[in-house]
Amino acid sequence: MQQTILKTINDLYKWKNNIEANINFVPTMGNLHKGHLELIQQSNKDGSNKTLVSIFINPLQFNDKKDFKNYPKTLEKDIHLAFTSGANAIFLPSESEILNIKSLIHQKASQKLSSNLCGKSREGHFDGVCTIVFRMLKIINPQKMFLGEKDWQQVLILKNMIKELNLKVEIKSITTQRDIDGVPFSSRNNLLTNLERKDLQLFSKELKKAKKNFLINKTINLEEINNSFKNKNLKVEYLQHLSAFSLSESIEKENITILAGAILCGSKRLIDHVFLMKRKPIIAIDGPAGSGKSTVTKLIAKKLNFIYLDTGAMYRALSWFLLDQKISYENDNILKKFLNKLNIVFKTNLNSEQDILINDICVTDKIRSPRISSIVSSIASISNVREFLVNEQRKIGNNGGIVAEGRDIGTTVFPKAEIKIYLNASIDERAKRRKIELNIQGHDVDFNKLKDQIKKRDFDDSTRNISPLVKAEDAVEIITDNFSAEQIAEKIIQIFYEKLPKEIKNDF
Ligand code: CDP
Repeated sequence: MQQTILKTINDLYKWKNNIEANINFVPTMGNLHKGHLELIQQSNKDGSNKTLVSIFINPLQFNDKKDFKNYPKTLEKDIHLAFTSGANAIFLPSESEILNIKSLIHQKASQKLSSNLCGKSREGHFDGVCTIVFRMLKIINPQKMFLGEKDWQQVLILKNMIKELNLKVEIKSITTQRDIDGVPFSSRNNLLTNLERKDLQLFSKELKKAKKNFLINKTINLEEINNSFKNKNLKVEYLQHLSAFSLSESIEKENITILAGAILCGSKRLIDHVFLMKRKPIIAIDGPAGSGKSTVTKLIAKKLNFIYLDTGAMYRALSWFLLDQKISYENDNILKKFLNKLNIVFKTNLNSEQDILINDICVTDKIRSPRISSIVSSIASISNVREFLVNEQRKIGNNGGIVAEGRDIGTTVFPKAEIKIYLNASIDERAKRRKIELNIQGHDVDFNKLKDQIKKRDFDDSTRNISPLVKAEDAVEIITDNFSAEQIAEKIIQIFYEKLPKEIKNDF
């Protein structure tokens, strides 16, 4: 494998012209440790892309001049380690070229994401990170950038910058790499004395202990953790329990949170964290009829071993029962009494498919008839019906580990779902899919009539007063025309894993 050292931006452009491949970029400040090497190895495993490692000590991200001066420099060793881990090229630009006044556009890190944790004590640090990473991205134009989750705040800030500036680069984050004593690898660890290293172990150990306790009682006692460091040789700079994604302090309703701290060991400053999760994650999938929700949702549930929840089937089952029992559902009192005695459950049948039972009657096939399709939207717009079914759905998803599909999952049923997807497809594609499904079930339907029926249902669902079908603000929209269900399911799983910190993957 050819290994190239690029000392100038011009060298880099020439190399780019020659490689005829996309670039995976691993930005570093040198003094490479196992954390960096893992990033390079993961990047190297990623398809046919070439791995470019940059080594550049960014002066703009040091708020402390002494820290900058003392930052460990081990260039020869770094070059050797980067190449043996799979780097195709190493970019070693000079400070004057990168900081060139004409080309340097200063960036501001998100105010919200940088107001806590390291942003509090290291003024201008994240602006400096954003400025240099932006400059590197503009020069390199990589397809992917690999970042370590040890600096989770940095990962969030850079993801946010990329989104805001609409840059075309994917971020791949890698779980925090730890030494055998539990301490995360960090370039500054080399500067620690043996005694300081021992103190540092204590910090990581206490965080781990807090996570263990959290699993039992779901609370974090910051004071207690802080007290455990009293009479030790370390000073806690900060210890905060925040939302893992917004880094805000209002965490009561949050599922995934982060307990993160920075400590000072003598003059050295180190950070560590743990992620905490109250329940397993939830994936919410909404969209109009025929957008592919059911097939895709089933596939995801199978691949992730999550519960599959088809909320539409519940509205259909309820509609079928109301018609079958000739209930005057327009009358609130009659409907309420009826709902009080209702029991809807899902059961896996002998074909490993899900059956739906309403008051012990299996209605799986019956609820797919055109008759039910034409009435379900009006029944689904009744507030008592929605209140009852939303409540049932929340009970099923109480512990998470669920992928639910419907019309209001991301907006009403599980507004705190970790991932929200809005599936859509053109009306022709949706009617085509639905016609095939109905034909298989033995219903012969006219294509144009079916199209009109779907359009009407879309209209009714999206204009009703209570939880209408809308794309949640934080949902990712996916248009499914021309893609197989398998491809869409894979894409959603990728979005899911990309959003979550890799470290919690073992927790569910
Ligand atoms: O499979 P298809 O897309 O035709 O619809 P479904 O998911 O079986 O849902 C049938 C109907 O139930 C929808 O047209 C909505 O009127 C209603 N529904 C709802 O209001 N809220 C949900 N979360 C799911 C379905």
